[in-house]
Amino acid sequence: MFFKKQIPIGIDIGSSYIKTARLAPSKEGMELTLFDYIALPHGAIVDGIIEDRGIVTSALEEMLAKNKIKSTEAILSVAGHSSVIIKRVTMPTMKEEELVNSIRFEAEQYIPFDINDVNIDFQILGESAEESGQMDVVLIAVKKNVIKDYVEAVENAGATPIIVDIAHFAVSNIFEYNYGNPEKECIALVNIGGNSTNLNIIKNDMPLFTRDTPIGGNVHTEAIMNEFSVTVEDAERLKKGQSVEGVPPENVSFAIISSSEEIYSDIQRSMDFFRSSVSDEDISRVVLSGGVALTKGFADTMAERLGMPVEVLDVFKNITLSEKLDGNMVRELAPMGAVAMGLALRRPGDR
Ligand SMILES: Nc1ncnc2c1ncn2[C@@H]1O[C@H](COP(=O)(O)OP(=O)(O)OP(=O)(O)O)[C@@H](O)[C@H]1O
Ligand SMILES: [Mg+2]
Repeated sequence: MFFKKQIPIGIDIGSSYIKTARLAPSKEGMELTLFDYIALPHGAIVDGIIEDRGIVTSALEEMLAKNKIKSTEAILSVAGHSSVIIKRVTMPTMKEEELVNSIRFEAEQYIPFDINDVNIDFQILGESAEESGQMDVVLIAVKKNVIKDYVEAVENAGATPIIVDIAHFAVSNIFEYNYGNPEKECIALVNIGGNSTNLNIIKNDMPLFTRDTPIGGNVHTEAIMNEFSVTVEDAERLKKGQSVEGVPPENVSFAIISSSEEIYSDIQRSMDFFRSSVSDEDISRVVLSGGVALTKGFADTMAERLGMPVEVLDVFKNITLSEKLDGNMVRELAPMGAVAMGLALRRPGDR
């Protein structure tokens, strides 16, 4: 009997939606053969922490069953300022094997959590431009209990997690796969979900600066709820352009535009910090993803506000779409699937 080699799926467990994607090698490169999502109720995940495991596991089960996935390997991601630290640091030059042995010691001074409570990973970027005998390294620390919660939620739903990545890196992964390496350009990848904004400023495929802030599309939901005294479900409908009795659509746009200011200022603050404390590099443009990227007019207003081009991440520059999928749905929602697709690009054995 022959078994087809199993291709792992990417699962992005967000506070608003769980998203999943599978990318299969094809003649042209990669083909998207699975893309789906399922909503989570408010409060199931807060600040990147799973508050209600039962709800998350049953949503996952439902999504896998709907797509007839019985058992599969899965690649997950975590994010959130209270559970993940990504820091670019300078340390004495050494070989990768040496750093593997001394990373906990080197990392301790940079990590605001107990070193025993975190898993640590790193990527050596190369010789430091500023100091000789020093090298630039990206340090990544993730709380063990957070990883455990995500892994268990997925295991309980019948899938087997094989890699846990960071949402920011999943976005840069799918960006690079589609856009190549725009050499010398410094680009801000901004992924805005319901509850959070993941910022990753990259140059030459390397992260220069990453940040996570607890602000996202929920500010739109709350503004709509307050303005029109509607339920959270109705506010979600209104956001997507669906109608709700007694609420004029043009007033909804106004509520969204004015509350977006909070998100723009947050990004502006991070960019100001980057310019003042991290690097002299000029950020040339923003590439936007996450569910908030679907909001009509959001990217254009952001471009005006930040004074730089803002485009929505196109995941289909270099990826084809399987005919088996609902093309209209997938094309419309693809920016929201950026993390799931970036995860789906990874393969067992990748570091
Ligand atoms: N068509 C749409 N128009 C406007 N907003 C939308 C649309 N679709 C989804 N959103 C909003 O996008 C957000 C969800 O995006 P996403 O799935 O990227 O978030 P998440 O990953 O679940 O959240 P987080 O990463 O912050 O935990 C919600 O605020 C949702 O209301
Ligand atoms: Mg998200």
